[in-house]
Amino acid sequence: MCGIVGCILKENEKAAPVLFNCISMLEYRGYDSIGMATFNGEIEVKKARGGIESVDAKLNLKDMDGSFGIAHTRWASAGKPTDENAHPHLDDTGSVAVVHNGTLENYSELKAELIKEGHTFRSSTDTEVIPHLIKKFMDEGLNLEEALGKCTTRIRGSYAIAAISKAEPDKLMAVRKYSPLIIAYGEKGYFAASDTPAVLEYARNIIRLKDGETAILTRKGIRILDEKGEEIEWKSKYIDWTPEMAKKEGYKHFMIKEIVEQSCAVKNTLIQKASIEKIIGEIGDVKRICFVACGTSYHASITGKYLIESLVGIACDVVIASEFRYTAKTWDENTLVIFISQSGETYDSRMALKEANKTSKTLAIVNVAGSAMSEEAEYVIQTQAGPEIGVAATKTYVAQLTAIYLFAGLLAENDEVIDKLYKVPAYIDEITKKREDIRKLCESYDFKGHAFYLGRGFSYPTALEGALKLKEITYIHAEGYAAGELKHGPLALIDETVPVFVIIPPGEDYTKTMTNLKEVEARGAVVISVGAEGDDKIRENSEIFFEINPEVDDMIAPLVYIVPLQLISYYVTLAMGYNPDKPRNLSKVITV
Ligand code: M6R
Repeated sequence: MCGIVGCILKENEKAAPVLFNCISMLEYRGYDSIGMATFNGEIEVKKARGGIESVDAKLNLKDMDGSFGIAHTRWASAGKPTDENAHPHLDDTGSVAVVHNGTLENYSELKAELIKEGHTFRSSTDTEVIPHLIKKFMDEGLNLEEALGKCTTRIRGSYAIAAISKAEPDKLMAVRKYSPLIIAYGEKGYFAASDTPAVLEYARNIIRLKDGETAILTRKGIRILDEKGEEIEWKSKYIDWTPEMAKKEGYKHFMIKEIVEQSCAVKNTLIQKASIEKIIGEIGDVKRICFVACGTSYHASITGKYLIESLVGIACDVVIASEFRYTAKTWDENTLVIFISQSGETYDSRMALKEANKTSKTLAIVNVAGSAMSEEAEYVIQTQAGPEIGVAATKTYVAQLTAIYLFAGLLAENDEVIDKLYKVPAYIDEITKKREDIRKLCESYDFKGHAFYLGRGFSYPTALEGALKLKEITYIHAEGYAAGELKHGPLALIDETVPVFVIIPPGEDYTKTMTNLKEVEARGAVVISVGAEGDDKIRENSEIFFEINPEVDDMIAPLVYIVPLQLISYYVTLAMGYNPDKPRNLSKVITV
């Protein structure tokens, strides 16, 4: 995944520092190389391998001239992270510059064809075919708008593209298919960007382009064309996210800021109760529910299954979105398919949603307003976590859980569950306030090799999510297991070198989980437990014990017990010298 930005500002404004600030906000989408192109009589390009700050120190990106341009932050997919492969890419004559997020499936054929026609390529990226194609079509007599349109009929795959041309200065073109792209306007001028945080400092009126749509930005305004090239009327939405919400605000990393913000994410999502009630009223008869999601959102979905089955008694399946196509298609009009996605742009989830729309009722639980899935699903619940920048999902996970608990509680007409939700923010704050203790512990403990996370029932998805948080940012191999499953194989791996995190809240399954805890302890494992404050039995049998407010029972535990696990992953990452906001090989939104 990569991040793209383009802007066309008032004539007396300099684009480079604005582009630099905007693209810095998208670094979470990729950070192996960076580049910018601005126009001031000629197209000037500066780009190199490296993070934003280091490339700027070397090339002085902010000092480029011109009042419009494009910028890119890359996370290599086709072609290694090198200076040559950094975007923007140019045609042979340097008169068309392009930045691109996505993957072109047919670029090898197109490249071969263009080379035959005499074009010279400088990079090994798929993107470079785009400026060559645009220039070729412009040389054939088309204007920039028509040439980009024709180019999109030739390329296959996913893309969000921003392009400028020397032949038509003061014009910025932007087009998308499967990769996200927003258009925005504010005091300084007009913008195109992969995601909202990029532009919040300058523009809060946002238009989310739909697949196949093209935007033409000039100093006179915005035109939007549909896939057939017909001009359409557009409406913008004013985004009430503030620029500060997408900044670190004194925290060392976005991840810790977002962990601390979790109590607010829950509080704000609880405000959605009335709109969820309305959705339940409209959905009608539901005989079966299926959750579809990826990664952390998949773990939230498993919690949803346990909750709905136990509270409402409707049978629920949970499907990993990328596996969706291999499952038997037995859904019908009485099936409700619930899609959970922070970004609302995840490719696999979107493809499954497209299929589900053909047969069933669909509901998307998304955090990003106006994202593709929020437009494509029949019903939408918008979680209120605010922008999440850290690649590791934290506050959006508890916000998803809050929405699921509200949905299940309202469907079951179970006031007790709903009432319990209102206490969750305070429980979360109790933990995050004690984060210094967790930091000290993580610094003094040598986490190495492998780790296991065990939980039963509602705590099983917490075990999966705890393990995902550890592995994605510390690179320590970690596995989440249903506690009762351990003896069916993995117990063979347990010895005195292996830390085992046991999630053991008070409730029905406590005794069974305690048996599992003792099993691993007997094999010498380093037992790290999360349980109710003051539980001496847990303390006696654990090397480390994280104590949670005893009012938190097993049903509500997923919303609270995940917090110490997130904090442990964060502080272990720091102790190991890694950057938790930028895990290797990963990016925030997976649109391929
Ligand atoms: O935007 P989505 O919720 O659809 O994203 C799904 C996963 O890519 C995401 O949860 C991923 O697993 C995170 N890195 C987890 O921290």
